[in-house]
Amino acid sequence: MLQWQSRTIVRISLGALALLAGGAGIAQDYPHPNYAEDVAGIFQDKCQICHQPNSVAPMALLTYEEVQPWIPLIRMRVSAREMPPWHLNPVIGIQDYKNDLSLTERQRQTILDWVDSGAPAGPDAALPAVRSFPDPNRWQLGDVYGREPDLIVRSAPFDLAAATQDKWFRPTVDTGLTEDRWVQGMEVRPSYPLGRRAVHHVLLYQLQDRAGEPGSEETGQSAALQDQPFMEWAIGKVGDIFPAGTGKLLKAGARIGWDLHLHAIGQEIKGDTVELGVWLYPRNTQPRHPTVLRSLSALGEGGIDIRPNETAMLQQFHVVEAPARLENFQPHLHRVGKGMSLEVIYPDGRRELLSYVDNFQWQWNNNYIYADDAAPLIPAGSTLVVTAWYDNTDNNPDAPDPRQWVGYGERAVDEMGHAWVNFTYLEQDEFDRLWAERQARKAAGATD
Ligand code: HEC
Repeated sequence: MLQWQSRTIVRISLGALALLAGGAGIAQDYPHPNYAEDVAGIFQDKCQICHQPNSVAPMALLTYEEVQPWIPLIRMRVSAREMPPWHLNPVIGIQDYKNDLSLTERQRQTILDWVDSGAPAGPDAALPAVRSFPDPNRWQLGDVYGREPDLIVRSAPFDLAAATQDKWFRPTVDTGLTEDRWVQGMEVRPSYPLGRRAVHHVLLYQLQDRAGEPGSEETGQSAALQDQPFMEWAIGKVGDIFPAGTGKLLKAGARIGWDLHLHAIGQEIKGDTVELGVWLYPRNTQPRHPTVLRSLSALGEGGIDIRPNETAMLQQFHVVEAPARLENFQPHLHRVGKGMSLEVIYPDGRRELLSYVDNFQWQWNNNYIYADDAAPLIPAGSTLVVTAWYDNTDNNPDAPDPRQWVGYGERAVDEMGHAWVNFTYLEQDEFDRLWAERQARKAAGATD
């Protein structure tokens, strides 16, 4: 009751302020948001999966008491669109993603409005029921496939000091597969709880003979080049679910090359691992379309060459030789990186901006997974354009030292510039059918 009264007082005092400021016409009789009725539910839906004990975030946001000390920072991070970690431009480009973490504009405004009106607690009785979260140790894609993974490949164990620079760990591990099998889905699961906080991102290479594999001509991979990116995982990502009829081929005797990027967490780690869980198609089932993970670079022949106190833009063009559907967009830049876009120039010259990360945060290697109805269909002969923006000036608080030249390299103080994209190659007739369906849906939508 007490809290409800305080909410009323906040409303009246703001109304009075508006009157004093000559704010006639500003309707002040709507209630300002309060935690219990308006904000707790948003935090449950959009924050708590990470902001709970032993999850990836540094603090829990489960109760009003836990939220309180963070209110100013919550305002800053939400207002800057840094939290939740979803750094796509909210207007330009495709907005339908399977793993969307973003706040709706209304939710965002509610949080900002709530903080600006004194962050009132609201009536306890209106608090939503505590949300329960799934056991952090279970395989999350088990819910999708109705069973545990068919194959689990575990990295070799790693140690990490409590305080140290970034470390990389690159063991190679046998899959134990004795026959060729097609992959339907996969999940990466760092050990719990410490590994989950220390493993920043994971790149998995598939080491196998590629001779005669579908899609191998398009990617320009020769049979001799045996390791190919298999999967990229980063904080926030669970795994890959390949749409029906698509998947990746793991061959008998295949090995997995792990590339773990580790951050010290202030606590010593000993003997932790990362697991790859793989769901397989039934034996002798071959999906019609292979999915191939490609790295699309923004770099030209000059590589990365950013002078002190300068901004830079790099752009590269990639011709797509066979009809394909793009399943995701995952920009990879480091601390000087500020943004990346993916555009297509269709064979008729029409251009379309597909995805635009304009607020890149170097700690977050987000993977933006297109919803099935939105996944870009790319006709053969199209050109994909990858553009990367960098800021090596004092305007970029993440730049390690704007007085220094920045070039290509693996450490976070060096730079990179590419996007990871899963390509599903389609036969021409199926592509044409999907394209026609998409056009029809668009036309129907336009007349609604
Ligand atoms: C996918 C996981 C994830 C989600 C979802 C998420 N956060 Fe975070 N949050 C993190 C991690 C990890 C950090 C620490 C690293 C960083 O600052 O980026 C963090 C940091 C923060 C910080 C800064 C803490 C500091 O010490 O500077 C605030 C404030 C915050 N989050 C608020 C929120 C709010 C509010 C939401 C929901 C609207 C949210 N976060 C959703 C993972 C998440």
